Amino acid sequence: PLSDADKPKFVASRRAVDFVEDGMRVGLGTGSTAAWMVRCLGRRVREEGLKIAGVPTSTRTAELARKVGIAVVTLEDAGWLDLTIDGADEFDRDLTLIKGGGGAHLQEKIVATASDRMIVIADPAKDVARLGAFPLPVEVIPFGWQATQKLVQRLLAGMDVDGRTATLRMAGDTPFRTDEGNYVLDLHLGRIGAPRDLALHLNQIAGVVENGLFMDICDTVVVGHADGTVRLIG
Ligand code: A5P
Repeated sequence: PLSDADKPKFVASRRAVDFVEDGMRVGLGTGSTAAWMVRCLGRRVREEGLKIAGVPTSTRTAELARKVGIAVVTLEDAGWLDLTIDGADEFDRDLTLIKGGGGAHLQEKIVATASDRMIVIADPAKDVARLGAFPLPVEVIPFGWQATQKLVQRLLAGMDVDGRTATLRMAGDTPFRTDEGNYVLDLHLGRIGAPRDLALHLNQIAGVVENGLFMDICDTVVVGHADGTVRLIG
């Protein structure tokens, strides 16, 4: 039996994989919700003989996809994707997302923007009126990261946000490293008044690789509920 936390993730995933058709090249997201989606998709491959090529957004997802029987290819091999299905940390009315809680937002953004369509799978807790309660992840190059952090905090001083601290993400005693070997700054903003402005300015700072705001990328959100129902937005 599924736990209360897993049920909404599972029902959203089960619905979202219905959008996958034979022959599609599919981007596979990262995180606990996306892991359910990969399992559901693997089941369709094994039981229905569905033929797809999956492009994972992390080493974790690649491992799981292979385990459940999905043919894994690189984005380079696939060239372009029909569909990407991924989780999110928050989404708002405009379907702007915060992603990167798992530290995979760089590959996730590359894969999602190289897709004709992006579907986000989520539980109701991810649905917010305003983004920013979840800390915004920003991937940075390790070289001179403290200077990058200062520049980020200086930028935040002039932005429409409530909080202004940027902390280095740790994995125990050492800095967390992304699949690309980079660091992550988590921006504790509380409220993001102007996401587009913030995203554009963040990516102008030398040392910033990519921020976790996804704008004009997500087409549809599938929200799963604990009672087994789903709600499609977009
Ligand atoms: C991974 O880097 C993130 O973008 C995830 O998609 C996000 O953190 C959602 O994860 P959960 O499904 O575990 O909440």
